[in-house]
Amino acid sequence: MPDRRAFLRTAAALAAAPLVAPASVRAGPVRPFALEAKPTRVDLVGDPYPPTGVWSYNATVPGPELRVKQGERLRVTVANSLEQTTSVHWHGVRVPNAMDGVPGVTQPPIAANGGTFVYEFDVPDAGTYWYHPHSRSYEQVARGLAGILVVEDREPFAADRDVTWVLQDWRLARDAQLRADFGNMMDRTHAGRIGNTVTVNGVVAESFDVRAGERLRLRLANLATARVFGLAFRGHRPVVIAYDGQPVEPHEPEQSLVVLGPGERVDVVLDMTAAPGERFDVIDRFYRQNTYRLLSLEYGQTPPLRTRFPGAPRLAPNPTPEVDLARAARHEVLFRGGMGPGMMGPGMMGRGMGGMGMMGGMTWSINGVAVDEGHAHEPLFVLERGRTYVLALANDTNWHHPMHLHGHFFRVLSRNGRPTRRREWRDTVLLAPNERAEIAFVADNPGDWMFHCHVLEHQASGMMATLRVV
Ligand code: C2O
Ligand code: CU
Repeated sequence: MPDRRAFLRTAAALAAAPLVAPASVRAGPVRPFALEAKPTRVDLVGDPYPPTGVWSYNATVPGPELRVKQGERLRVTVANSLEQTTSVHWHGVRVPNAMDGVPGVTQPPIAANGGTFVYEFDVPDAGTYWYHPHSRSYEQVARGLAGILVVEDREPFAADRDVTWVLQDWRLARDAQLRADFGNMMDRTHAGRIGNTVTVNGVVAESFDVRAGERLRLRLANLATARVFGLAFRGHRPVVIAYDGQPVEPHEPEQSLVVLGPGERVDVVLDMTAAPGERFDVIDRFYRQNTYRLLSLEYGQTPPLRTRFPGAPRLAPNPTPEVDLARAARHEVLFRGGMGPGMMGPGMMGRGMGGMGMMGGMTWSINGVAVDEGHAHEPLFVLERGRTYVLALANDTNWHHPMHLHGHFFRVLSRNGRPTRRREWRDTVLLAPNERAEIAFVADNPGDWMFHCHVLEHQASGMMATLRVV
């Protein structure tokens, strides 16, 4: 609990004190949290399977849902009880560079067996965000290290319940233990580590209880290392109100299918329009040959809360700086690699791997460069602070790539040359095989920012670059 009186005392002291750097004068209260990364056992699958050995934050999978209000300041003390170094990245939050959790770039790695690090930053934007390690992510996230950060709107949103579904994907052996083949060559060169067990909020879920006539604000978050979800709510019509935390004009997605690439979040309004006692399946049908039931919406016997539903309200916009396309600079970004055409692109080289390229496991490239697993690279582009940039992304591969930019939101302007209907703000854009997309953002946050594929095996095999904002 923030101590309001202590805060007021501090504020008064600051007002009387000689001039301090404006950046250190804060308006919002500080919300303290503690996270400990450590191994534990959790009941992912349930009877008759034994608990699964995972890596967790605070012994839960997913990690605790951190909740703060827009404009507040977050202080998270992270303790590392793993036998590997780690770090915490605040996916989607526009943090100052030093709080971005990229080891070797924005901070030293948090030492194994007892290291600590304190993250402290303001949360400028409301929405659904998440946190995860940026060290050996393809292993640490796959072992369970990930959690949600909800930044609540200043004005409460008109829904009966605010619910989060954390989607995670696990590759388990018959004894319900994780297969330890993290970062293998097959996953690196193909679709990444796609598992065989999907959990919702840390369990293989049978059903989700609802009441007839209620309106949910459902925060869907894909924390899987590689799996894309395409959720169909049988008998229901979800209305999207935010992508990656950023409000969007409320709309029904195409074919009523809610698609989430790795790292992405989609907030929907879901109205429980069916009758008491009914039951409807929620299906994941992203991979056509592999459709399965995620869980069922189970209506209780309570009489309907309402029978008429108003239209889904719009969320208040976040203070994201608007792009100035008339004065924008443009860069082309070409992705190549993986199995299939484009694998051995001309001019591909492994920087930092002594020129080993493919042999060093660097199977993907961005503009001909495949960086190694570390994060310190020569920048792909140096961007002028305050200027708008358009990145024309070209996926010259046969694979899906959710491309994520740190420290900024971008508008998705076009896909395959066609303007997008809503020019949605996002922090991650899912590129289909051979798809092109134009994104635009204001480079207003100084520092070195990662731009990488959120299929974590791809990220570790060359599909990452640094954008430097100066
Ligand atoms: Cu969600 Cu660079 O990461
Ligand atoms: Cu990728």
